[in-house]
Amino acid sequence: MKKIAVFTSGGDAPGMNACIRAVVRTAVYHNIRVFGIERGLNGMIDDNFVEMQTHSVSNIIQRGGTVLKTSRSKSFLTKEGRRKAYENLVAYGIDGLVAIGGDGTYTAMDVFTKEYDIPVIGAPGTIDNDLYGTDNTIGFDTAVNTALDAIDKIRDTADSNDRIFFVEVMGRDAGFIAMDVGIGGGAEAILIPERHTQLDELVNTLRSGWGRHKGSQLIVVAEGEDAGGVFELAEKIKSQIPTFEYRITVLGHIQRGGKPSARDRVLASRLGSAAVDGLLHGKKGVAAGVVNNAIVFTPFNEAIKKNKPITEGLVQLAKVLST
Ligand code: F6P
Repeated sequence: MKKIAVFTSGGDAPGMNACIRAVVRTAVYHNIRVFGIERGLNGMIDDNFVEMQTHSVSNIIQRGGTVLKTSRSKSFLTKEGRRKAYENLVAYGIDGLVAIGGDGTYTAMDVFTKEYDIPVIGAPGTIDNDLYGTDNTIGFDTAVNTALDAIDKIRDTADSNDRIFFVEVMGRDAGFIAMDVGIGGGAEAILIPERHTQLDELVNTLRSGWGRHKGSQLIVVAEGEDAGGVFELAEKIKSQIPTFEYRITVLGHIQRGGKPSARDRVLASRLGSAAVDGLLHGKKGVAAGVVNNAIVFTPFNEAIKKNKPITEGLVQLAKVLST
């Protein structure tokens, strides 16, 4: 392994820069030349390769976003796009790739490595935490803390006005952010895609809260829950309780920004370095992860397809603590 390349792809996540830094520094440590591919898979097709050295990644460990930039590439979904990308890798003499991203990135790399003989190792960079083969993904911890900070502020105004608030958090089809934010934020209810939203149960929860003299109440809603989204959900409840007054906050992309937490920096550093070590040890077509505090490698198709369940104990805990 003489030359490797690293790129970030899909939704950016806090900690991606710490991961890039770890890839570059580990490569330099092993005397391997390293290229950054800017703008993710689009950049691989469009020849956006830049050589990186130790100093290229100085002073980025604490920064959110990704210095290499990112994209959700439509061109890479085509055979022609992937062929161009491969030709560029060959032109630069790249012997191995580190792909930092989420399930879209892993899916693309699964297809790519079956079509072309290029060793690729993934590092899980997504706030959603929806990848099998790692307890946490890079960016998840920071996103949860960012959302919690917002929720604490919402609580102040909710409490002062005795109001019901619905707060929508990100996570696409997964409820990991909602679960942690809901428990950490002391929510009355947490609605996640992994569980069918029971409107009657929610109405009862709200009524019983009023019965227990709760002034304000907080419902955390994952963006992928199945009652039609936070606005429709709130209206459905209003149709059952006409006097119901509520406010909605959609936290949106603020959850993707900001300084990575300590946990994310350490996780990203471990995974970036492990990805390079994996390439050096002849691994390919796998994603690096940390499970029970140990580095593991999981084939891309398993990381995407195997179900990573929400811990049932957390669902129960949320119910008990919201009484
Ligand atoms: O996958 C990360 C994520 O932030 C999801 O939680 C969200 O559904 C999606 O990306 C938003 O994507 P975009 O930034 O392309 O709108």
